[in-house]
Amino acid sequence: SQRKEIDDTLATFTLSTTQLQEVKAKMRVELERGLKKDTHPTASVKMLPTYVYRTPDGTERGKYLALDLGGTNFRVLVVKIRTGMRNSVRMYNKIYAIPLEIMQGTGEELFDHIVQCISDFLDYMGMKNTRLPLGFTFSFPCNQTGIDKGDLVSWTKGFKATDCEGYDVVDMLREAIKRRNEFDLDIVAIVNDTVGTMMTCAYEDPKCQIGLIAGTGSNVCYMEEMKNIELVEGDEGQMCVNTEWGGFGENDNIEDIRTRYDREVDGGSLNPGKQRFEKMTSGMYLGEIVRQILIDLTKRGLLFRGRITERLKTKGIFETKFLSQIESDRLALLQVRSILQSLGLDSTCDDSIIVKEVCGAVSRRAAQLCGAGMAAIVDKIRENRGLDHLEITVGVDGTLYKLHPHFSTILKDTVRELAPNCKVDFILSEDGSGKGAALITAVARQHMQEQI
Ligand code: BG6
Ligand code: GLC
Repeated sequence: SQRKEIDDTLATFTLSTTQLQEVKAKMRVELERGLKKDTHPTASVKMLPTYVYRTPDGTERGKYLALDLGGTNFRVLVVKIRTGMRNSVRMYNKIYAIPLEIMQGTGEELFDHIVQCISDFLDYMGMKNTRLPLGFTFSFPCNQTGIDKGDLVSWTKGFKATDCEGYDVVDMLREAIKRRNEFDLDIVAIVNDTVGTMMTCAYEDPKCQIGLIAGTGSNVCYMEEMKNIELVEGDEGQMCVNTEWGGFGENDNIEDIRTRYDREVDGGSLNPGKQRFEKMTSGMYLGEIVRQILIDLTKRGLLFRGRITERLKTKGIFETKFLSQIESDRLALLQVRSILQSLGLDSTCDDSIIVKEVCGAVSRRAAQLCGAGMAAIVDKIRENRGLDHLEITVGVDGTLYKLHPHFSTILKDTVRELAPNCKVDFILSEDGSGKGAALITAVARQHMQEQI
């Protein structure tokens, strides 16, 4: 029957506890492989050193400029940190658009655009002549050799500017500032958004030693023991590692749980074969998976009266906010229909039920996979510290986590089930990772001054 066909399709998105435990175990293997010198070059989880040695301790202070590039919004911020009370940070920010042709144009155009936005912001703030230290949240994988040095490994998500991969991001920004020849900045730190988020949250809660982004992309960072990070000299203390877990699966080790729809989405992406875990777990791709399923069900005559509209063929129509609305329990089916209507999709009542089920299956799997990955991380930290029981906090940001009605609950339930020896709290980052970038900049400057 038709019902059975739909159920069978959605069943390919159901993961048993055993399967999730396998994902956790495989993630653990890849975390270790990424940390070891000999396996690092071929590891799917890159485990990139960040040169952030500690979370904030409350002694940070100063006035900083911060950039936040790579999520839904590009922001330029001024962050003022006073010592004393922990919540003594003031921020001013402005959001700028990055047009698609800039995201996918030349590297020079991209960095010129960034500098143009900084210039506008400095004018707006009346700060053109103050040379401020800058922390740059750059939410892409970078091979860092210092806090202010990082070669872009590869673009991810929706970016694909030419002549950037393999080059130092800080150099590219410095050169663009020089080209403009209008103001000067002191670029002190380059920061992944996971790290910025962890720092933002750790400023409020010292138990926060993990950063998670469930937004356009998906990624995690955490405090690792220096002695386990073979790429960096020294065995004392800790360093934050940017896992880049979005790459998990690039070595074909989770093909058993990928569906034909995942392969379809991957094939139509800017980076086929790459970021396979990210493509199953993050906002940029969940709507695309849903769309592929809907196209298939329609082709099979199970949906939309068998008619594939131009809209349904359009990439990117199901943004995270629509999925979140469709899955909201407070929404009557009639409202689901009107959302579909606004997306140019004419649906019957039955159609809207099916669409809601499809969205549920895709987002549930995403949350469970993130949970399985997180379980691997917390258990590793627990073992690092030789503990039977670990209490730890994860700082989280991202539109998927924030907007979706069920994602965070399913994620937490999965972590609880798969890492029973850890008590994991999740706190939301309220002020984005720009604040964290400023804190890192403050820590880095303290560190520099201590060395002089
Ligand atoms: C923001 C952070 O709040 O969340 C960014 O400041 C981060 O650094 C972003 O990239 C992630 O969420 P999304 O959904 O915008 O990709
Ligand atoms: C992508 C990027 C990663 C970032 C994540 C969340 O996975 O490669 O660096 O942290 O998206 O924005």
